[in-house]
Amino acid sequence: MTSDIRNIVVLTGAGISAESGLATFRGPDGLWEGHRVEDVCTPEALARDPVLVHRFYDARRAALESVTPNAAHEALAHLDAAWPGELLIVTQNVDDLHERAGARRLLHMHGELLSALCAACGMATRWAGAMGHGPECPGCGARALRPDIVFFGEMPYQMDRIDEALTRADLFVSIGTSGAVYPAAGFVQTARHYGAGTLELNLEPSAGSFQFSESRMGKASRLVPQWVSEILGARNH
Ligand code: OAD
Repeated sequence: MTSDIRNIVVLTGAGISAESGLATFRGPDGLWEGHRVEDVCTPEALARDPVLVHRFYDARRAALESVTPNAAHEALAHLDAAWPGELLIVTQNVDDLHERAGARRLLHMHGELLSALCAACGMATRWAGAMGHGPECPGCGARALRPDIVFFGEMPYQMDRIDEALTRADLFVSIGTSGAVYPAAGFVQTARHYGAGTLELNLEPSAGSFQFSESRMGKASRLVPQWVSEILGARNH
């Protein structure tokens, strides 16, 4: 069965970066200064209290400087380099740990901390430092730069490409995500509908655990390298 697999879609969430030291959103350490992420990450919150929203993302961007990819990011980068079939790693994470580990066939459906988006002209700019109170856009000059993050109520990036990959997938693997946020939480259903096998690797059962044909519970740093060596081993035999 495993040897019939050619096209793989991997979905990752905050759990894959937890062992690198980045807080998850809904874990015990999931609140930020008493705010739920749903209250900080909205267009309304940015309009109402831009200082608060910028502070939230400035803190998360600064945290990137002191963390490094873990064994799970590295295993997926190895899969990316070695897998002869189609592979798409869709991450909900806004950190850059997948690419720092070397993953290339990757897309950030919820945006990136290291990018700023101009709300006036739509230009995206690489952004490494703090955004403070909302800096000027280097393109149009408007003081309208915001984190290039998909807020609640906004459309995730590259949905057409993701949907297309899901329709062709032989295997869908979900790693380190609670399954609380759509549309990512619905990818397992789409993949199943088009005939893919489905595997969940998570610390605990997610909201949609029952929809996966197989669930393995444990830390990503152990489960992901194990799965990657299984799938690459099956391919080579
Ligand atoms: P959550 O914080 O909701 O879920 C993280 C999941 O990872 C939980 O199910 C944990 O049990 C699991 N987990 C924690 N540590 C783990 C480990 N070491 N190994 C494996 N699993 C572990 O994060 P997401 O599901 O990613 O959106 O959240 C989805 C979206 O909600 C995020 O992308 C973010 C947030 O609002 C945006 O930023 C737009």
